[in-house]
Amino acid sequence: NGKTAAPVKRKERNFVKVMQEQGRRVICFYGSQTGTAEDYAARLAKECSQNYGISAMTADIEDYDLTFLDTLPEDCLAFFVMATYGEGEPTDNAVEFWDHLTGDDAEFSEASGDDKPLSNLRYIVFGLGNKTYEHYNAVAREVDKKLSALGATRVAERGEGDDDGSLEEDFLAWQENMWPAFSEALGVDEANVDKQRTAVYSVQELESVEEDKLYLGELGDKTQRNFDAKKPYPAKVTMRDLFINSDRHCLHVDIDIEGSGFKYLTGDHVAIWPTNSEVEVNRLARLLGLSEKLDKYVMVKALDDTASKKYPFPVPTTYHSIFRHYLDINVAPTRPVLAGIAQFAPTEEGKALLEKLSKDKEEYKKVVADACRNLGEVLQMVNDQPGSFASIPFDYIVEGISRLQPRYYSISSSAMESPNVISATAVTLAYNPTVTPDRTVYGVGTNYLWALHKATYKDADTGIYHPEYHVKGPRNAYLADDNVPKVPVHVRKSNFKLPRNPSIPIIMVGPGTGVAPFRGFVHERAFQKGHGKPVGTTLLFYGCRRSDEDFLYRDEWPGLFETLGEESRIITAFSREGAEKVYVQHRLHEHAQQVWDLIDKQGAYIYICGDAKHMAKDVQSAFIEFAQTLGGKSPEQAEQYVKSLRSKGRYQEDVWS
Ligand code: 2AM
Repeated sequence: NGKTAAPVKRKERNFVKVMQEQGRRVICFYGSQTGTAEDYAARLAKECSQNYGISAMTADIEDYDLTFLDTLPEDCLAFFVMATYGEGEPTDNAVEFWDHLTGDDAEFSEASGDDKPLSNLRYIVFGLGNKTYEHYNAVAREVDKKLSALGATRVAERGEGDDDGSLEEDFLAWQENMWPAFSEALGVDEANVDKQRTAVYSVQELESVEEDKLYLGELGDKTQRNFDAKKPYPAKVTMRDLFINSDRHCLHVDIDIEGSGFKYLTGDHVAIWPTNSEVEVNRLARLLGLSEKLDKYVMVKALDDTASKKYPFPVPTTYHSIFRHYLDINVAPTRPVLAGIAQFAPTEEGKALLEKLSKDKEEYKKVVADACRNLGEVLQMVNDQPGSFASIPFDYIVEGISRLQPRYYSISSSAMESPNVISATAVTLAYNPTVTPDRTVYGVGTNYLWALHKATYKDADTGIYHPEYHVKGPRNAYLADDNVPKVPVHVRKSNFKLPRNPSIPIIMVGPGTGVAPFRGFVHERAFQKGHGKPVGTTLLFYGCRRSDEDFLYRDEWPGLFETLGEESRIITAFSREGAEKVYVQHRLHEHAQQVWDLIDKQGAYIYICGDAKHMAKDVQSAFIEFAQTLGGKSPEQAEQYVKSLRSKGRYQEDVWS
């Protein structure tokens, strides 16, 4: 048909050259896992140009060769927006930079042998972390320290955001002092700049689009053949109920990765790319006056043709697909977004309300953040008439709402036993915020799976759980011929790994869905035992509400532990069966001597999975206590003992908050 493949152009890795070619003075590197750091980098870059008249670019830190840092001219500046992840680790895209920077002697392009090779460089760091975890903002702190030690100049104090508190508010508060320091260093005056909002994206409606060029929820480039995190694999997914309750239910998900080229290891994570519910799509579309136009074709692209991302999501597409598949329309809009939208309110009162929400932190926290109100719900509060916000230019929406991101689940199958089918265990998330007890907020990822399960396996009109949350149909482009849904997935490596030698004993603690990776671990050890390998004692501490209610994989454990032999067992804690709460840590205490002997005499590995905030902390305290009471150590020694288990990889956590 006359089409030829575009020549493959190797991307320029020298960012200094790219900056010079494009006339940029500022570069905003991001180390991002879930896209937040990337959004923040983009916001900083935009503010540079809009408020200070300085051309800035964002840069995925893995796209460039950071050994050129020593050649960045002195009148330029680099931002590093770095997320910390897991146990003080860099995000996947920042691993290379991290290894280089923290290696013994970081070499740079020109200044070899110089102990201050970065004396030209001026930089500012913002870190994204979570205080629930031990290594709070470790990556940003270390990057800041290293750059400074290598001679670079820190232009403004490092900012740190806490995802357990309010990351967004931390980010905004940090900027108050950062920008004055920035403008002084770059010799620019905010007052002299004519501040006009400059659109980032252009939006164009199209009359027609060739069918094979249209994106209706696909992710990544349609023509690319191999699959990865940027182009997830549309995997056939089958699901079954593990339990159904009035307020929660849990799904076992089997994901067929045969043919994807993905390999996984037991203990890794699987990323599942969800879609938004039709309810939310319609809510927002109605207020924006787009209900009648949902199937209209649209092209959205960056206005700046040197932008590192030319398109915010796969295009051409439709308004419907943008809302359904590409934008995270379920998150609370930020205060700056509300400030920007206020001018489009249909009434003066509405405008005043939006302005108040954008300026008054307390009011915003109560009405938007703590209530988990999404943009549609906030607009609805202001004015619920159809089309009441039709005057908001669509590029505001694209710019103001971040991209829908995948959700990560701990893999609950054994790679040895089941290399081509990945299992995940997902309990649906729905809760009523304390500030608005009569509103229910649904977690996007798990309710998507549930809705898909219902839509494809049961009558979609008789929802058991919350019938209003139904899907119009699975991801348009991803329904397999046999009516099995396909869901985009990719695999993410983790450090949560069984000891290489299976004869080493293990102690696992995983209440609730925290048991997921341990189903994989127990399957793997039983599989090895079944194949004649010596397998050490395998102890699983598991907790749930009641033995007859939410006991996950209840029918599987007896057979598995029988294979593993009598030293191995599951020890359960049913929290709501007696007058007093019984948790996994209580059971640990009851089995303290055996647990301690396994650790101290037999070199057992300890694994904890589940809630980071309370459970993982309480469980760690139990182990520290054993080291004191049974190991005869002082409180400090006991703490040190668990610390050193951690550093030896004998105390591993897969926890979330
Ligand atoms: P609860 O909901 O009855 O309080 C899985 O969610 C199990 O973990 C439930 O039995 C839950 O009990 C329990 N759980 C709640 N908080 C916990 C904590 N801090 N430590 C250990 N288990 C906890």
